[in-house]
Order: sequence, then C-alpha cells, then structure tokens
Amino acid sequence: MLPTKMTPKAKKVFIRTYGCQMNVYDSNRMADVLAPLGYSTTDTPDDADMVILNTCHIREKASEKVFSDLGRLRPLKRERDMIIAVAGCVAQAEGAEIMARAPFVDIVVGSQAYHRLPQMLEEVKNKRRAIDTDFPIETKFDLLPAPRQEGPAAFLSIQEGCDKFCTFCVVPYTRGAEYSRPVDAILKEARDLVAQGAREITLLGQNVNAYHGVTADGSVIGLGALIRVLAEIDGLARIRYMTSHPRDMDAHLMEAHRDVPQLMPFLHLPVQSGSDRILKAMNRGHTRGDYLRIVETLRGYRPDLALSSDFIVGFPGESDADFADTMALAEQVGYAQCFTFKYSPRPGTPASTMDDQVPEDVKTTRLLALQDLIARQQRAFNAASVGCSFDVLLTGTGRNAGQLVGKSPYLQAVHVNADPSLIGSIMPVTVVSLETNSLGAVPAGTAQIDTGRAVARR
Ligand code: SAH
Ligand code: SF4
Ligand code: F3S
Repeated sequence: MLPTKMTPKAKKVFIRTYGCQMNVYDSNRMADVLAPLGYSTTDTPDDADMVILNTCHIREKASEKVFSDLGRLRPLKRERDMIIAVAGCVAQAEGAEIMARAPFVDIVVGSQAYHRLPQMLEEVKNKRRAIDTDFPIETKFDLLPAPRQEGPAAFLSIQEGCDKFCTFCVVPYTRGAEYSRPVDAILKEARDLVAQGAREITLLGQNVNAYHGVTADGSVIGLGALIRVLAEIDGLARIRYMTSHPRDMDAHLMEAHRDVPQLMPFLHLPVQSGSDRILKAMNRGHTRGDYLRIVETLRGYRPDLALSSDFIVGFPGESDADFADTMALAEQVGYAQCFTFKYSPRPGTPASTMDDQVPEDVKTTRLLALQDLIARQQRAFNAASVGCSFDVLLTGTGRNAGQLVGKSPYLQAVHVNADPSLIGSIMPVTVVSLETNSLGAVPAGTAQIDTGRAVARR
C-alpha cells in the first residue's frame, strides 16, 4: 500500500482491448484502478510504463493475436523498464500457458480479479511475477473506485457470466457463472455517470437479460423492471442493453419496449442459426419459431424497432439446407446490421469434438453469401432513413470543419453541422443524405441540453 500523503510518480499505461463491450468496460475500470497509483492512459505502447492486453478467447484468431502482440512488445521491454500484463478471457483460460510461453509477461489477471492489480504491481516491484485468475468470493464491483466518465455515451456492466453453455462457446468457462449486481449499486453508478455528463447508458452483460438483481428490500427484479427504475433518473435520456439471449426475453422486458420511451428502438438479439436442427446441436434452448415470435411481439410493441444479430456459419453438421434456413430467417427478419462469424472450434467446448466439421471453403462461401445479404439489408435500412426525422445524441466532432457526429436511436452514425458546444445534447434532425458509413442530417429543431425525456421519432 502507498503511504497516504505520498503523490505517486506520473506514469503511463497503454491498454489494448479485444473482444466484446464487457472488455471495453473492464479496460476503463482497470484505468480507474490504476489512476490513484499515478497512471494515466496513453494511446501507444511506445511511451508506456505499463501495457495491458485485455484479451478475447471467443475465436481462434482472437486468441492467437495475444501471442503475436506479445512478440511485438518484447523488444520494447528489452529497451526499457516496462510492465507487461495480460488480462481478460485468454488470461482466464490460458494464464499458466502464457506465463510459461512468455517469460517477459509480468502479470496475468483474469476478468474477475483486476481490482487486485495494485497488489499485483507491488509483487512486480519486488521482482516477482503475479498471476491471479481466481473467481474471488468478493466481487470486484464492490471494490472498484467510482467510474470516471468521458462523453455522453456510457457503458454500465450489470450482469456477468453465463450458465447457458452453448456447445460452441468459451464464455461460461472464461467468465464463470451468471452474476447480477444489486439494484442499488447499479443505480448509484448510473447516477454517477449521469452527473458526469452521460446522457445514454448501455447496460452490459454476457447475458444481460438474464439479470435478476436484489433490491434494497430483498426482492429480486429482472431487466424489464430495472429499466423502468433507471428511466426515473433525471437527465438519463437513453437506455440500451446488450447482449441479450432469446431465452431470457420475458414478457416484462418486451413490454418495456412498449412503455419506456428512453429505451431505444434498437435491439441486438443473437440467433446464431435459422435451422432448428443446428440450434438444438448448439444447445441454444430456443427454436427458430421462438425467435420469430419474439421479434413479432417486439415489433408489435415498437413498430420501428431495428434489430441486429450474431450468426455462426459452418457449425459442425450444418448442411446446405440448414444454411438455407439461416438465409431465409435473415430475409424474413430484415436486420439493420449483424455480426457474422465462421464457426471456430474452441478447446474444451463440446462442438469442437463433434463429427462432421464443415470444411473451411464451405464456411467461407456461406459467410460471404450471408454477409452479402446483411450488407444489402443494412444499406436498405439506412437508405430508408433519408427523409426521416429523429433525435440524435451528439457525441463528438466530425471529420469536416463545423461538423458534429452523433448516434441515431437506431445506432446509426449521423453527421450534422452544429456548434461544438452542443456535444452531449440531443438534437432533433432530419436525414438528408446517405453516406458510406453514416447519414447526413440537418437540424430540425432546438437541441435539448438538459432533459432526460427524449422520445425517439421516426
Ligand atoms: N452471450 C451472447 C454472445 C457472446 S459471444 C449470446 O449468447 O448471444 C459473441 C458472439 O460470438 C456469439 O453470439 C457468437 O455468434 C460468436 N461466437 C461465440 N463462439 C464462437 C465460436 N466458437 N466460433 C465462432 N463464433 C463464435
Ligand atoms: Fe456463449 Fe451461449 Fe453463453 Fe452467449 S449464451 S455467452 S453464446 S454460451
Ligand atoms: Fe471475448 Fe471474453 Fe467477451 S471471450 S467476447 S472478451 S466475454
């Protein structure tokens, strides 16, 4: 521990984040943990005293990157004193292997243990390497400092871990069992974020809608009720959540899309496959019909709801007919955007040893076909926005002079000419043009600087 009156020497930490939004949240929190030790963040390893690779284990390519990045850091470390830490899901899954294969790594810390980084740095100071991939009894959330927020769009982790055990997925092993933070802790963090300028909060969880947190009076509430509670916070204009699982899409949550105007009309709801046979082999616990019924109900409540999904092509045993079912499902739903992946066999998961692994070239052909369909849907969705009016949360400056960039209710990037003092406010706009990766818009009214009750219009 540092003596309380000593000011720590100014140091720099470079954090590289791979993988999902939960890792982005964790990286920010690691920066918060290190700040009292004198570390500020830098965006290059070249001037860093400490480098943290916050890693992802989800597909083979993602986890291989860790070792190639470590290879590039090694010469830097030879030149000067530098602490190298590996965090995140590869650290959790392969911590001992990293320690053995990369002797120049000083710290290996899992996703549930990074609140202990200060103690681990003490170890390193004493010339010892430190590894901590525990799932501690204490939860990191109770021990982390209050988050620092920059900008109007914030992330807030409310749930972690997964009990679903889809047969292709490493997350239940790297992130552990489902855990939901208590309601009061979430409310406090949300209020803190809003006080620091956040206008939009995205609630995060590996299975965010499996949320079941305790309230102050000891009862347990789900995500639908939590969203209603958060919507009462003055100044919080927008609420989103991700990633949700079709199995946990209960009636109360779906009704929140009808009743809570702050809940934005965009939902990431991964389906993975359109074939019932493959969904069963994946152990998804829902059918194609279940998914389509959820989409229908949600669109009944919120006709302008935009959807996105994750898809895996080439899961073991996937036939041409199964893949045709996936294409047909995507056609039927009509997505605003999607993430598409080739199945990647992961060590220790049941699917990795299934017969009938699909050849790489077949996976590639299917991926390209699906990506082509999704790209067409995305273009059509964006093109349909031209002429529409809606509110945009202005998040920063654009590339051109006088231009600001913001987010539509449907998560599209929008450019509009406006004064930089308006960053952080919500401005009604009319979309006038379709650009390559964004929409061009003109103001359609006065920006609301200080109200938490912005209603999306389309
Ligand atoms: N909890 C979320 C997703 C977490 S992982 C859910 O259930 O939807 C993010 C995405 O990575 C998954 O939705 C899936 O599409 C993809 N993914 C997971 N494991 C994979 C694997 N072995 N190969 C390819 N893609 C995978
Ligand atoms: Fe992985 Fe399935 Fe859990 Fe999502 S629900 S994290 S895909 S095991
Ligand atoms: Fe990757 Fe871990 Fe997220 S494996 S997708 S960083 S939960």
